[in-house]
Amino acid sequence: MSKVRQIRHLITENDFSKDEIKDILSKAKIFSNIQSYDKLKDKLIITLFFENSTRTRSSFEIAAKRLGAKVVNLDIGTSSSSKGESLEDTVSNLNAMKPDAIVIRHKTSGLPDSLIKYVDCPIINAGDGKNSHPTQAMLDLYTIHEHFNGDIENKTIAIVGDIKNSRVASSNLRLLPRFGIIPILVSPDCFMPDDDIFEKANSLEDVIDKVDIVMSLRAQIERHGQNYYKTPKHYAIDYCVTKEILGDKDIILLHPGPVNRNIDISDDMLSDERCKVLQQVTNGVAVRMAILEKLL
Ligand code: CP
Repeated sequence: MSKVRQIRHLITENDFSKDEIKDILSKAKIFSNIQSYDKLKDKLIITLFFENSTRTRSSFEIAAKRLGAKVVNLDIGTSSSSKGESLEDTVSNLNAMKPDAIVIRHKTSGLPDSLIKYVDCPIINAGDGKNSHPTQAMLDLYTIHEHFNGDIENKTIAIVGDIKNSRVASSNLRLLPRFGIIPILVSPDCFMPDDDIFEKANSLEDVIDKVDIVMSLRAQIERHGQNYYKTPKHYAIDYCVTKEILGDKDIILLHPGPVNRNIDISDDMLSDERCKVLQQVTNGVAVRMAILEKLL
């Protein structure tokens, strides 16, 4: 009797159990040393980015190609979306071409989940509004795990910046505590989420002595609808992560990118060896290879 394989989607990090995520971390470690591997050589992946992306889109494409898969990027600017086709119809039509997975980014929270009923292949969320960016959170977890050689239980992370509007923060706040990592939210009141679970502070200096990891975030100005600060420099006075604040502490510094230099992180901290921003990008390919292999 043939076995029907159930389609799995990755909409939020909660779609994978803790054991499955541990497996992804182990697989990603193996993939980090492999330039090419033909495991997905008969597969075809469509990427659909309705919001701009440098890292996530190219990382998925490189991950897919390193596994031997073919990738079709739909250029939204020249697609028939501009002729009034609904997103559901766009996705149904792409699904009719029988891809093996669709990777999607959209400004609307919850949109990837709403598209599941229109497809016969996995949907992978590459970021939806403020809601979720599961592959980013998994690569962040991988980077932390790699740095601390797996000893991550009870490590403390300060998440600094526009937490309220960040899907990276939302995903990490769901994922990291499952692995025993303790978040502290560091943000001005206007960017602080309504949350009673985690410790909060208005200044990184107030909590820096108990922190092992700092994750800086970009102010998500495109989601604000109003100016909270006169200029980005006014925000940076209190929230730019600088050498002055970190001193010589044994801390690693993360940022999902894109980094606004000297607003989110100072130039000198970006070139400090404790800064893992480019390592996160490198790790993203290996983690996405592991995720694609699992779902396809
Ligand atoms: N981290 C991240 O999502 O970056 P991009 O917006 O460039 O994909």
